[in-house]
Amino acid sequence: MGRRMRIISALICFMITLSPVLAFIPGIDGPVISQEALEGDKTTLFCDSTTDYQNDELMLLVWYKDNVPIYSYDARITSEWSSSSYNTSGRLKANIEIQPTALSISALRGDDQALYHCRVDFVLAPTRNVGVNLTVIVLPSQPFFLDELGNKVERRIGPYHEGDTLVLSCLVIGGRPPPRISWYSGKDLVDASDGESDIPGVRENELYLPLTRYNADSLSCRASNTHLIPPLRAILQIELFLPAYNVTINWVRGLIDDALRAGRPAVVKCVAHGSYPQPEITWWLDHRHLTQHSNQSWDNVTRRAESFLEFTPAVNENGATLACVATNTVMAPGRDSKADVIVLNVTYSPIVEVSKLGDGRLNEVVELDSLHLECEVKANPPVLSFTWYFDDLEIRPNNLWGSQIASQTLLIEEVTKRHAGRYSCGARNNVGETRAESVNITVLYPPSCKEHGITLVKEALKCNVKALPPPDTFFWHIQPTDEDVQHLTTGSAILPLSQITGSLSRTLDASCEAGNGIASQEKPCKRVFSFEQLRPPQPQQCDLAFEYEEFQMRCIPVENATYYEVSVWRMSTSNTSLVLERRGSMGYGMSQALAQGEGVPWLVRGPLGNLRVGDEAGASACNRYGCSTALLLRPTENLLQATANPWWKFILERDFGISVGAVVLVTVFVLSTVLAVRLARRARSKPTPVIQVLQLDEVARDYLETIGDHKVHASCSLRSCSSGYSDGSAESAPTVDRRRKPRLWDWEPPPDVTLTVHRESAV
Ligand SMILES: *[C@@H]1O[C@H](CO)[C@@H](O)[C@H](O)[C@H]1NC(C)=O
Ligand SMILES: *[C@@H]1O[C@H](CO)[C@@H](O)[C@H](O)[C@H]1NC(C)=O
Ligand SMILES: *[C@@H]1O[C@H](CO)[C@@H](O)[C@H](O)[C@H]1NC(C)=O
Ligand SMILES: *[C@@H]1O[C@H](CO)[C@@H](O)[C@H](O)[C@H]1NC(C)=O
Ligand SMILES: *[C@@H]1O[C@H](CO)[C@@H](O)[C@H](O)[C@H]1NC(C)=O
Ligand SMILES: *[C@@H]1O[C@H](CO)[C@@H](O)[C@H](O)[C@H]1NC(C)=O
Ligand SMILES: *[C@@H]1O[C@H](CO)[C@@H](O)[C@H](O)[C@H]1NC(C)=O
Ligand SMILES: *[C@@H]1O[C@H](CO)[C@@H](O)[C@H](O)[C@H]1NC(C)=O
Ligand SMILES: *[C@@H]1O[C@H](CO)[C@@H](O)[C@H](O)[C@H]1NC(C)=O
Repeated sequence: MGRRMRIISALICFMITLSPVLAFIPGIDGPVISQEALEGDKTTLFCDSTTDYQNDELMLLVWYKDNVPIYSYDARITSEWSSSSYNTSGRLKANIEIQPTALSISALRGDDQALYHCRVDFVLAPTRNVGVNLTVIVLPSQPFFLDELGNKVERRIGPYHEGDTLVLSCLVIGGRPPPRISWYSGKDLVDASDGESDIPGVRENELYLPLTRYNADSLSCRASNTHLIPPLRAILQIELFLPAYNVTINWVRGLIDDALRAGRPAVVKCVAHGSYPQPEITWWLDHRHLTQHSNQSWDNVTRRAESFLEFTPAVNENGATLACVATNTVMAPGRDSKADVIVLNVTYSPIVEVSKLGDGRLNEVVELDSLHLECEVKANPPVLSFTWYFDDLEIRPNNLWGSQIASQTLLIEEVTKRHAGRYSCGARNNVGETRAESVNITVLYPPSCKEHGITLVKEALKCNVKALPPPDTFFWHIQPTDEDVQHLTTGSAILPLSQITGSLSRTLDASCEAGNGIASQEKPCKRVFSFEQLRPPQPQQCDLAFEYEEFQMRCIPVENATYYEVSVWRMSTSNTSLVLERRGSMGYGMSQALAQGEGVPWLVRGPLGNLRVGDEAGASACNRYGCSTALLLRPTENLLQATANPWWKFILERDFGISVGAVVLVTVFVLSTVLAVRLARRARSKPTPVIQVLQLDEVARDYLETIGDHKVHASCSLRSCSSGYSDGSAESAPTVDRRRKPRLWDWEPPPDVTLTVHRESAV
């Protein structure tokens, strides 16, 4: 049996190879299917061997390559055959069990490309032919790049600037069918104009591409001659200098309600995309370059540069523009940078200041004028409310302020003195409240009398007025009693009495009016003055003496006296009043006092003439304001007796005694030398004056106690030695009766004097 099979098979082979071959005509003998396969790959040719008729049966299936049998199957004897050229390599495999039957050819070679057809013979049905036009694709080489000069370019090229034209060839070697070469930028076809190169078997596509940011990235060359696999591709990196195309500023920290707060640090970020190489990011605030507190980082893959800026916005930076500029330093100026700009919204508590509207100086307003204050404010966000303050207390509506006090302006229609003070306003917004520095408002007003009007200050009149500003002129109308009105003007409130002419010993009508340039004084200040208090004090230390054959009033001078008066008062004959008998002056320049104490006015003295029992002598000190009340002294009877004329004097006074006296004197002279000597000695000695000591004070007493040392000079001074004192070495001093040392506190009048100081009614 096996042997028989072998024989049959050999027979078939023989039949096939030798039988006359009918060439397969595509379309006429049967349909043709096109089929592609890659060189080296495997492909499967299909042939349907199912019968069309029920009773039919496959007899023979034969595959031809270009009309040459390469495989057959005889169903009658179930015998396979294949041509040795395919079988030897084992590249051919058939599967008859499936439908359609499959014939696979592996490790395809270029010469496998051919028109194959299968012939199927049936018992009943006619022979069937199916053609397969097999194309074996030979892939080309990997694409590669040549620049304009023919140099090979590997992986990357550049640098270029945007807009430069890239000229570059992409080449492939071989390939069947001839491949198409295309340039792509990313997924976009940019050039498909390929063609044969000068070199046989090599195809190329020369690219002319103006470079842009968009096309330079991921530029590739693709070569393809089949749909069976993706195109071969080569990628080229183009180094292209680019400015940043997209710069954005964003806040990182420090925003409150989408706004900045003055004085609060903030961080802002700037991102620049797309620059190559790394850009230099700079920050500008209103054209001021911020150099500090920024840093920069760079990601060379995403081409993203980041810069952070830390800064503390100030009030005056509200509305300022913050710019972030990304500059590509390798590029030409002008097309190298890109910026983003934001406007700062810096919020702050209001900044307030009070200002006065209207005329006049800032801080002054005249009484009864209107006062218009404005709260000048700068704020972001806007002010919500205003508050006014007076002397640091909030102004609330009342009759002093009216009701319009919560607005930006404070209006006082008629200013009074009570409106003088410190004004301030406060403004509040969402950020806070601020109070302005106070403004002192002074209310100016015309002069008006103060309660006392005119006062006497020492020896001057003072006009007391209230006024703002202080008056600079005072008009006086002065009228001493019984005299004409005097009109005087002073620059200050003081009018010295010395400027008034006339006597001031009686009353004075004074009126004054001040002027301060605001308005005239409504009512002048008026007052009537008497200047008794300016009169000198009553002389207190006086005595009566009998000298130079008359009574003398002698006093220690008192302060502020310009002259002194003596007076003699005598008891009326009809009633018990003292009546002024005579008046005289006393002083350093009058009568004996000058002769006695020239240049050393220790005493003032005044002659009184003769005094009788019951007379009283007065001494008063005077100046232009009048005289003090008189100090009255009454000589005691002892004094009067002691100063009475001696009997011999009485004789001398009589004419009749001349001859008799002569005789008597001669007789006495002759008879009594001793007596004459005694008389002569008595004449030479000083006649001690009879003196009443009165009211000595401590100074006087001290003086009197030391007077013993000067006694000789003192006694001399009183009478005959007045010229001997020109050296002034010793004080001229009266000799005094020192029998008593008077004491002020337990003083009692000496026995021969009577103090009548209290009898003022008599003066
Ligand atoms: C291929 O040849 C071998 C011997 O070389 C043979 O055994 C085999 O059957 C042949 N295959 C076909 C399909 O003819
Ligand atoms: C087979 O395909 C090739 C191209 O692959 C073509 O040139 C040829 O004409 C085709 N033959 C037939 C018979 O279709
Ligand atoms: C800037 O670039 C980024 C990332 O490329 C993008 O998200 C953003 O929208 C761009 N902004 C502008 C204004 O183009
Ligand atoms: C600034 O920010 C404040 C608070 O968010 C807001 O009220 C105001 O309108 C903003 N100003 C501007 C000019 O954007
Ligand atoms: C980015 O920088 C790193 C190191 O600096 C370098 O290794 C890498 O090649 C760079 N990448 C690009 C795309 O330039
Ligand atoms: C730059 O500064 C910001 C904020 O100060 C910080 O968050 C960031 O880490 C800093 N970056 C670098 C690279 O120093
Ligand atoms: C305002 O007046 C007060 C006293 O009334 C005074 O202390 C202060 O210095 C004055 N301020 C100005 C600016 O005049
Ligand atoms: C004398 O006048 C001056 C100046 O007017 C005065 O201060 C003094 O008190 C007066 N002396 C007496 C004792 O009145
Ligand atoms: C007392 O008498 C004198 C005349 O001697 C007279 O001037 C005076 O007014 C009289 N006084 C009284 C109170 O009567």
